[in-house]
Amino acid sequence: MEPPSAVNDVPAIPQGVATGLTRSAIFLVVTINKDPGSRTAVRTLCGDLSGLIRSVGFREIDSTLSCVIGIGSDAWDLLFDPPRPAELHPFREIRAGPRIAVSTPGDLLFHIRADRLDLCFELETQIVSRLGAAVSPVDEVQGFRYFDSRDLIGFVDGTENPQGKAANDAVFIGDEDRPFAGGSYVIVQKYLHDLAAWNAIPTDQQERIVGRTKLNDIELDDSVKPTYAHNALTTIVEEGKEVKILRDNMPFGRPALGEFGTYFIGYSRSPRTIEQMLQNMFVGHPPGNYDRLLDVSRATTGNLFFVPTATFLDRVDDEP
Ligand code: HEM
Repeated sequence: MEPPSAVNDVPAIPQGVATGLTRSAIFLVVTINKDPGSRTAVRTLCGDLSGLIRSVGFREIDSTLSCVIGIGSDAWDLLFDPPRPAELHPFREIRAGPRIAVSTPGDLLFHIRADRLDLCFELETQIVSRLGAAVSPVDEVQGFRYFDSRDLIGFVDGTENPQGKAANDAVFIGDEDRPFAGGSYVIVQKYLHDLAAWNAIPTDQQERIVGRTKLNDIELDDSVKPTYAHNALTTIVEEGKEVKILRDNMPFGRPALGEFGTYFIGYSRSPRTIEQMLQNMFVGHPPGNYDRLLDVSRATTGNLFFVPTATFLDRVDDEP
């Protein structure tokens, strides 16, 4: 991929943020233990990550393996000297009656993607064995692609993602924060669905809630699409132009335990875009006109991370 930017005339190579959808993914969130040895172990991993991805990924001929590491606000200051990414802050909780976008602990995110789960599993194993006692796991989710890219509520998920240059423009920081050009922000939330309640809603009402038809994934016409439709509340327009994000949601679950979920992950060049979407979904736009998906879905985690470039990570080892 073309590097989006050059810093000090050295091209900054992004991490594999815009790699395209895969059949499997693992989402791992950990906290860093508070001792000097843990800091060193995490910094060493940052420098070694690209080599680890190559080692595991090269064992598959089609090489679909990628891994993005995201770094939380407090962890950034623990790991690195200034400057810090301009818009990095802890995830901001939103409360609106019964709808809560919770903010939960998390210093590092590993978003591991491949067409085969065994590759994701192997890379995660290598990462956690390197980190050892330096980190404590907070949440680990194995996601799978479900039929024709549907989520567990039965709708095709991901259709309106930007492609190619539009995707790069949506996710990679440019001149607005030059020291971090080529980096991104990522927000994750783990949602659990009440599928019995969702399935009790007639399909035509489900379609109005999502804003698309269920069987063939056609966007509803504006004349019939409610202002509370999910795809209406998550459409952000600034200065007459739609501001896109890049999503790679994954279903996960344990049917025997009644667990059915969607792991939301959204990349963007500014966290403000996704924060505005969340505000619209939870509080409503205007307030009260909220996203009805939240009547049957509960966010159980919420984190914001910064995604530095691969170039930045490769250089971490060289500094004290
Ligand atoms: C309960 C969890 C969620 C589910 C099941 C879900 C599902 C969907 C579905 C089925 C679509 C329509 C197809 C598509 O274009 O992808 C969609 C669109 C979209 N979703 Fe979500 N979503 C969830 C959470 C979120 C969150 C938390 C955000 C952002 C904060 C978000 C942002 C978007 C955006 C930006 C679109 C595209 C809108 C457009 O341009 O038409 N989604 N989602």
